[in-house]
Amino acid sequence: MREFNIVAKIRISSYKELSAEEKHLIDYAKRSTQNAYAPYSGFKVGAAVLLENGKIITGNNQENIAYPSGLCAERVAVFYANATYPDVRIKTIAVAAYFEGDYVEKLSPCGSCLQVLQEVENRYQSPVQVLLYRKHEVYIVDSVKDLMPLNFSF
Ligand code: THU
Repeated sequence: MREFNIVAKIRISSYKELSAEEKHLIDYAKRSTQNAYAPYSGFKVGAAVLLENGKIITGNNQENIAYPSGLCAERVAVFYANATYPDVRIKTIAVAAYFEGDYVEKLSPCGSCLQVLQEVENRYQSPVQVLLYRKHEVYIVDSVKDLMPLNFSF
């Protein structure tokens, strides 16, 4: 039997320590939580995507009474970005979530969103940085592969 360890690098920063560009993107993600349509879970997620051309696209979760028909914030933002600017690389995605009157401390994209973000990395042959706003601190992940190292592809 053989085994191997998977090591992922996640940097943890305070909001204050971030660059102006990173703060700006997180602010967009935070604001975007407020436009979420989440009447069933009450969990409002906001995502902001920074494109290579400097444009910022936001998205938020869109729920549906037929629950699986809804979509996560990250995929709303990424699909809109790719639908509008198909030739422009996505550099960074920032994510925040708001629940019961405050931003949440524990947050990471779901597996389906990571799968979609992985496709973006493969499509543009370039890592997508992920900024996770977790109220008191921000997780900085340099590639989606750090969050989902054994992803599906063929
Ligand atoms: N949700 C997101 O928008 N992004 C994620 O990465 C995980 C979950 C949404 C889906 C649903 O509307 C609500 O959060 C509660 O699961």
